[in-house]
Amino acid sequence: MDAGPGAVLPDEAELRRRVGRLSLEQKIRLLTGADFWALYDEPDVGLRRLVLSDGPAGVRGESWDERDSSANVPSATALAATWDTGRIEAIGGLLAREARRKGVDVLLAPTVNLHRTPYAGRCFECFSEDPLLTARIGAAYVRGLQRSGVGATVKHFIGNDSETQRMTVDVRIDDRTLRELYLAPFEAIVRQEGAWAVMAAYNGVNGSPMTQSPLLRDILHGEWGYDGLVMSDWTAAHATEAAAQAALDLAMPGPASLYGPWGDALLEAVGKGTVDQALIDDKVVRILRLAARVGALTDNPAPLAPASPQPDSVAVAQELRAAAAAGFVLARNDGILPLSRSASPGQLGPDRRLWVAVIGPNAEVARTMGGGSATVFPPYTTSPMDGLRAAGLRVTYAPGVASHLRAGAARAPWLLRPGRPFAPGTGAEIRFFAESGELAGSQLRDGATFLWLSGFASSGVTEPVARLEIRCVIRATGGGVYQLGVSGLGRYRLLVDGAEVFDATLTLPENADLAEALMRPPQHLAPVELAAGQSVDVVAEHDVGSSPFGGFGTLVQLNLVPPHGTDDEEIAAAAALAAASDAAVIVVGTTAEVESEGFDRTTLALPGRQDELVRRVIAANPRTVAVVNSGAPVLLPWAQDAAAVLLSWFGGQEYGDALADVLLGDVEPGGRLPMTWPASEEGLPSTQPADGVLTYREGLFIGYRAYDRDGREPLFPFGHGNGYTTWSHESITLDRAPDGRKWAGLGVAACVQVRNTGSRPGREVVQVYASRPDSAVERPAKWLVGFATVDADPGETVTVGILIPERAFQHWAGQGWATEPGLFVLAAGPSSASLPLAAHVDLP
Ligand code: BGC
Repeated sequence: MDAGPGAVLPDEAELRRRVGRLSLEQKIRLLTGADFWALYDEPDVGLRRLVLSDGPAGVRGESWDERDSSANVPSATALAATWDTGRIEAIGGLLAREARRKGVDVLLAPTVNLHRTPYAGRCFECFSEDPLLTARIGAAYVRGLQRSGVGATVKHFIGNDSETQRMTVDVRIDDRTLRELYLAPFEAIVRQEGAWAVMAAYNGVNGSPMTQSPLLRDILHGEWGYDGLVMSDWTAAHATEAAAQAALDLAMPGPASLYGPWGDALLEAVGKGTVDQALIDDKVVRILRLAARVGALTDNPAPLAPASPQPDSVAVAQELRAAAAAGFVLARNDGILPLSRSASPGQLGPDRRLWVAVIGPNAEVARTMGGGSATVFPPYTTSPMDGLRAAGLRVTYAPGVASHLRAGAARAPWLLRPGRPFAPGTGAEIRFFAESGELAGSQLRDGATFLWLSGFASSGVTEPVARLEIRCVIRATGGGVYQLGVSGLGRYRLLVDGAEVFDATLTLPENADLAEALMRPPQHLAPVELAAGQSVDVVAEHDVGSSPFGGFGTLVQLNLVPPHGTDDEEIAAAAALAAASDAAVIVVGTTAEVESEGFDRTTLALPGRQDELVRRVIAANPRTVAVVNSGAPVLLPWAQDAAAVLLSWFGGQEYGDALADVLLGDVEPGGRLPMTWPASEEGLPSTQPADGVLTYREGLFIGYRAYDRDGREPLFPFGHGNGYTTWSHESITLDRAPDGRKWAGLGVAACVQVRNTGSRPGREVVQVYASRPDSAVERPAKWLVGFATVDADPGETVTVGILIPERAFQHWAGQGWATEPGLFVLAAGPSSASLPLAAHVDLP
């Protein structure tokens, strides 16, 4: 795919003619961002300012501000769990419309690194442990964006599969593993969709940092014929000449006077002849080609897709609600689901509605996304409690315990904007002060977390800011001890009703990454005793210069923990509530401070005492449905004791409504696992480098490939998931390609027949895996080679065709792809662990 709909792209000669109009200075200026999110304009070649934005859970835009809200789509793991390329292409289209609404030309997404290990901090942001599923879902996402004229940035090229020492780690990957696993999704997306941008990762691979790696030129350009743009990850480019000689085109962010290795240094290098001018021209051609594709050449604009309706519109809500439900994986169900809306007769008094005890920290505050650069600000979120209540159930709530170990941001109903009478609503006022002490600006905000990247211009304050004041009112709902505090870096003072509560300097743990510092900054809390209904004026002051990141990143978060019982008391209260109800829905999980860019997890256990909470609730009421709200696998040691286990990911802004739809059976739980869900931490690859080097010792054997090899049983296998109906997999036949040529050149078409044997309409994901008995080459026991979704009514039989590409039978043989002649088995079924059908292909 070449450009937005109907666009006529200037050809290479025309792009080169334009480049010829520029001086060397003008060209080099274009190669580093103009600011944090945009490229320079250049009127001499008709180039307007071109805007980039994260991605992938929505389109954040140029500011980090909760008032500038964005449609929040489910996490990548949730999208991959749909196994539904049509749906994901539609989500790509929704994101393109969001991009148009926000003036964004290129989205910094999708993330197509693999789940090498569930410890990886950004696991939630990547689709799958399997390269084929990642490639298909990633390609659909890219297609949806680019069809509408918005560029995708396939990231992070390559080997960026964990966060520890992420800026410096050198990842050692053998050639075959690199080709068959990690490069495979990039290759498929670049070749099939012609992705318009690729992001070079922070890490190095086999000795070269990725912004100066030979893989860019040799593989991306040379082998795959990539004609798009390569940009650096933010601040990942360091070496002037090496990055210029490698195929890096754009260093981000900018300007060059503040960030990146180019600007004047590159001008000098070209002057000295150590960097060839032709390389510079090539980079500018690629920038202009990207600009042409997204309609940023003013004399040749590509037709624009329409902007989206507001992110809180009904149309957006419906699409996100359906997408979230389509990714929910019903991992276990003893028949309790779907819940019936009414209680059994005789069980209750006059109110015959089902009485559900909704329990767990994540039931009240929906966790809709992971942390880091993937953060967006949804216009609203629906929590599981909201969803079940809106569905008409009788709902009572007990939190039980916390799902994160830090104090959360201050929020409704306690946090109010200041002023008497209060400026209406939840939030705070920010005042910006110049060095002179004069007020440089102020704004009313809706939340309690404030971040500025590279200065305060996004808040409309252009002069240097020396001090910030965050002012709000905290109103106590009940009487007791409230923990009030601040998170951030540098010096903070907290005043309550004018009296200083603390003056503290918050420092970073050694070697912490910027993203880690921003996602889980140090905090300082103090107890404040309040009477029920009492309001106090709270002011947090921050000296901007005291942050170790200077102006690069300024963060202030107001924290509040309302009075609560001890964990023991809260667990006992939750169990008592469960015992008194018809059924319990317990929502456990993680948060964006547990799963985030910037750091890896060191345990897969649920944070805090959540396991104990689940066990006590199950013991109190066996009719307990456990809902897991995390972006990536967590250990579920009680899974076999719960009546049902629903894995629901970080589900986006419509999470709670989608959950109610599925729990009540209005919608099918459509998801199948895009990764193996571990039963324990045994045998999982580590993210910890030794002496700066992380060796992928497990080679080809990640995910189900490792479990198969080691004969280990996961908790839930790759591809697993139940619906509300039952299926019989009836037959598989293989077909030659339509034009009758040989198998090897074209791959194989598998026709699989399935029958809905249950009593409800349903959706099945038919999966096909290849294996090679008696291979002379070391291989996984089986690997996914194709899949398709099927919808069928009760009793209906459907035949689905699944095209299996030639590459599915090939292995990397040192210098190229090879097919081992002989018999391959193709097995089909509902998951990697249940493959009732098999057929053979004899390859020459
Ligand atoms: C992340 C990228 C992101 C960029 C811009 C980096 O820290 O690794 O994925 O696109 O920041 O926010």
